[in-house]
Amino acid sequence: MTTTPEAPGSLIPTLPGLSYTDPEVFRREQERIFEALWCCAVRSAELDRPGAFRTVQIGRESVIVTRNRSGELRAFLNSCRHRGARLCTEEAGQLRRSLQCPYHAWTYDLDGRLVAAPNLVRMPDVDRSAYGLVPVALREWLGYTWVCLADEPPSFEETVIGAAVERLGDAASIDRYRTGELALGRRITYDVRANWKLIVENFMECYHCATIHPELTEVLPEFAEGYAAQYYVGHGAEFGEGIKGFTVDGSAGFARLPHVADAQDRRYYAITVKPTVFVNLVPDHVILHRMFPLAADRTVVECDWLYAPEVVVSGADVSGSVELFHRVNVQDFDACERTQPGMASRAYRDGGVLVPSEHHIGIFHAWVRERLAAGPAGLPSDPV
Ligand code: FES
Ligand code: FE
Repeated sequence: MTTTPEAPGSLIPTLPGLSYTDPEVFRREQERIFEALWCCAVRSAELDRPGAFRTVQIGRESVIVTRNRSGELRAFLNSCRHRGARLCTEEAGQLRRSLQCPYHAWTYDLDGRLVAAPNLVRMPDVDRSAYGLVPVALREWLGYTWVCLADEPPSFEETVIGAAVERLGDAASIDRYRTGELALGRRITYDVRANWKLIVENFMECYHCATIHPELTEVLPEFAEGYAAQYYVGHGAEFGEGIKGFTVDGSAGFARLPHVADAQDRRYYAITVKPTVFVNLVPDHVILHRMFPLAADRTVVECDWLYAPEVVVSGADVSGSVELFHRVNVQDFDACERTQPGMASRAYRDGGVLVPSEHHIGIFHAWVRERLAAGPAGLPSDPV
């Protein structure tokens, strides 16, 4: 165990309770965080043919992600340019050659161009090229489609890839897991009645591990000491003696992924990619969480378990590894839901405190404050 960087015993304050309950704070987070930064939207392989689509909530916008007729990914705001009707009301589905608005039947091709509208020939003034769907910037990484609603998106390399690599360090390179080439073995969606920041904070610390994660601390005994793996750059938590795999009972998992280094074997790495993604790396699979904050007190989390394609194709039983982190998720989200009402208590008006093993959460809080302070001028002063 590496030495802790803080003065022993020091406590630092958290954000105040209002940050987790106030709709106005949440609105500003939507504007200045989720609508300003890159958010992970969809596992790209789910969109397996032209016209396959997913809709996701990013900040205050519904976004459609699909593939055009050449198979290239496209993302658009899910809003008709005629009079604003929502185009796709379903979460996922298959479009034909085009996307037709259910209200007055304006029709867009899979590149977002307006290609038809009733009576259009009798409306020579309508410049079709001016009324295409509003495109949304997208990038692919780790096999996921990431979208950014900003007019000028920040550098993906710096704010997403760079931030993830920095957390993990070169020695434990995330690239070795070839996450983009893995196959989806299981997905579980959790509707969590808690503020998204509680979920981030919980993921960042392991002070709670000994209390609420009996199965996880059995597999990763050092977690019982309260120090999270991501506390130290490049530190992976080592499997306990006698633990054969990252499974609910420590039984053997699958073969190590082919490019994972010896130094990464029998270790668990965790990375937070702000604002909405957690990546968990173990030798034979990757677990990736995507958060979709819907309200100050509600966050939907999609958790994917990704394995070598041959494991999924063979129909092998993945339940041993799924069950371990599913239990961890339920334990964590229960804790977040238990905490959410306390955020509105006068006991938490001025916030709480972070003990030394949680001090890196203070860096997250500083980041949130900075994001909310940076934005269009003229908004009310910062309530967080
Ligand atoms: Fe979509 Fe009228 S609102 S066609
Ligand atoms: Fe936890």
